[in-house]
Amino acid sequence: MKSHSPTMGFFHNPTMQKKEYSTSRSTSTAIYINHDYKLYKELVANKKLAVISSQNLIKSYPEISNEKNLIVIDDTERNKNLKSVEKIIEQLLELGIDRSSYIIGIGGGIVCDITGFVAHIFMRGVRFGLIPTTLLAMSDAAIGGKNGVNFRESKNMIGSFDNPDFIIADSKFVQTLPESQYMSGLGEIIKYALIGNEKIFSLLKNNTREILNRDSTLLDEIIRDAIITKTEIVEKDPDDKSIRHILNFGHTIGHSIEIIENIPHGMAVVKGIVAATEISVKMQMLDNNIAEQIKQLIASFGYDISYRLGEKHLQLLCNDKKKEDSDIRFVLLEDIGRPIIKKMPINEIIKMLI
Ligand SMILES: NC(=O)c1ccc[n+]([C@@H]2O[C@H](COP(=O)([O-])OP(=O)(O)OC[C@H]3O[C@@H](n4cnc5c(N)ncnc54)[C@H](O)[C@@H]3O)[C@@H](O)[C@H]2O)c1
Repeated sequence: MKSHSPTMGFFHNPTMQKKEYSTSRSTSTAIYINHDYKLYKELVANKKLAVISSQNLIKSYPEISNEKNLIVIDDTERNKNLKSVEKIIEQLLELGIDRSSYIIGIGGGIVCDITGFVAHIFMRGVRFGLIPTTLLAMSDAAIGGKNGVNFRESKNMIGSFDNPDFIIADSKFVQTLPESQYMSGLGEIIKYALIGNEKIFSLLKNNTREILNRDSTLLDEIIRDAIITKTEIVEKDPDDKSIRHILNFGHTIGHSIEIIENIPHGMAVVKGIVAATEISVKMQMLDNNIAEQIKQLIASFGYDISYRLGEKHLQLLCNDKKKEDSDIRFVLLEDIGRPIIKKMPINEIIKMLI
């Protein structure tokens, strides 16, 4: 009997049992390091555009309020949600933005994540560019094509993979970051030093004071090195299925500490890095001298490297996205610049640390 459903008919045709097709989602992203952020005006010349930025950022950079077609959001984790996305879309429609237009995001990781997501879904996709303004967003969040918003209690639960046409990392923005925000970003830079290469590690080790003082030349250098490290990893695994998991170094335990101790992300990540380093030594993968150097480097930046894990952490690890049955994909270190992903039972990890 013939089916009236086009799909069924299609599969019942004996000469055409199956048809596969593929489209490439890959686009290339130009990253401009140490450029004035206003470069974007040249990059999107003659295009209609909308700029998404944050009320809080405009307090430090009033000139942003002069941007044409500006959409201002309240960039808090609480507002990183579908409601904000809907409000932005309403404003894009009012401004007459269409598929041939551009959307630019100027702000921290929240603005970048929301801008990328809105650009991905608005009219099935509008081109976009990102101007990250925090250390964390320049060196990490803006790069890699992951966009999205929180849903109920779940962070970044709804989102997309889509890369911007360009990213402009203008390190002058870093100068106005509150101290805790700066130190939080620096925590991620330390992660890149450890999963990246000895050169970034030495740069941090030999210039601790200058980096703490936000020396602009050194900032450009560490941001560039982190960007290179992240892009090299992301290029090998754009869909986050394999090697990209090494970007979670320090994050598995760090994330549970962040929630339980309610401390900034990067501060929790450095504690997670210390824990992962100690596990690497206990598993005889990493030389204890190197582990000590790592801890010394982190402490020299003034981070509190102490941590205490318990039942609550175990609970959170059990709910972790990287979990597979009772195992978790955990990132360990064999040396500086040599991370390794290992599937380990969650109980075993906790046992080694308490
Ligand atoms: N997509 C990814 O791959 C990825 C990776 C890491 C983090 N993230 C996301 O990034 C977000 C955190 O981003 P963040 O740490 O950049 O902070 P943020 O975006 O939460 O910004 C923190 C605060 O700093 C303000 N701010 C931004 N730039 C400033 C500046 N130059 N001077 C003064 N104040 C400034 C913001 O207005 C905001 O109030 C989280 O939502 C996280 O989920 C995404």
